Amino acid sequence: MSGNIGVEIRAVRADEVEAIGALARVIWQAAYLDMIGQGQIDYMLAQRYGAERMREELARPDIWWRQILVDGQRLGFYACQTGEKPGELKLDKLYVHPGHQRRGLGGRLLAHASELARGQGCHTLVLAVHKGNAPAIAAYKKHGFAIREPIYIDIGGGYVMDDYLMEKRLTAEARD
Ligand SMILES: CC(C)(COP(=O)(O)OP(=O)(O)OC[C@H]1O[C@@H](n2cnc3c(N)ncnc32)[C@H](O)[C@@H]1OP(=O)(O)O)[C@@H](O)C(=O)NCCC(=O)NCCS
Repeated sequence: MSGNIGVEIRAVRADEVEAIGALARVIWQAAYLDMIGQGQIDYMLAQRYGAERMREELARPDIWWRQILVDGQRLGFYACQTGEKPGELKLDKLYVHPGHQRRGLGGRLLAHASELARGQGCHTLVLAVHKGNAPAIAAYKKHGFAIREPIYIDIGGGYVMDDYLMEKRLTAEARD
């Protein structure tokens, strides 16, 4: 693909996992410090964004990492995986750089994930979001998600995730 101009969403490559991890750190510090505190941020970043683990995930056929670049600048990403229930794809991560939120980039990533889900024959996109993450819950509602149920997951290290499971039913015609 030639040129860097405009918005591009493409797969994360193995040599880009450190850059994605660094971007995650910037976004998590800005979004989550008040919500979950430094200890849980450090614990979860180490758990989820270690280079070795990310490279393993990139090699798996049931996990997809995608990133958004604007004029060649990496500003966000998402990751999703085959859901627990048949016909469901689980959005596991969705992040946009704090200086570039509320400009539609999250919506573009969600639309892309919806297309990916349809391409995998899925009818529903699901995700978990912290109950106290009002901006993200607002973003998901804006883009067609609804709360399915509260969930509470022990992630080890003395930490829990006190979340809502949200879902979006995908139709053939809907383009987000
Ligand atoms: C949630 C997130 C991915 C949305 O991406 P985005 O590029 O801001 O999303 P869009 O521009 O497509 O949609 C913007 C909508 O999100 C909501 N939103 C995003 N940031 C917000 C904020 N700081 N305050 C209130 N609402 C906010 C609003 O509903 C907004 O719509 P509006 O501007 O018309 O009011 C992004 O804000 C983000 O990375 N947040 C921090 C990390 C996070 O919480 N990720 C989700 C993990 S489950």
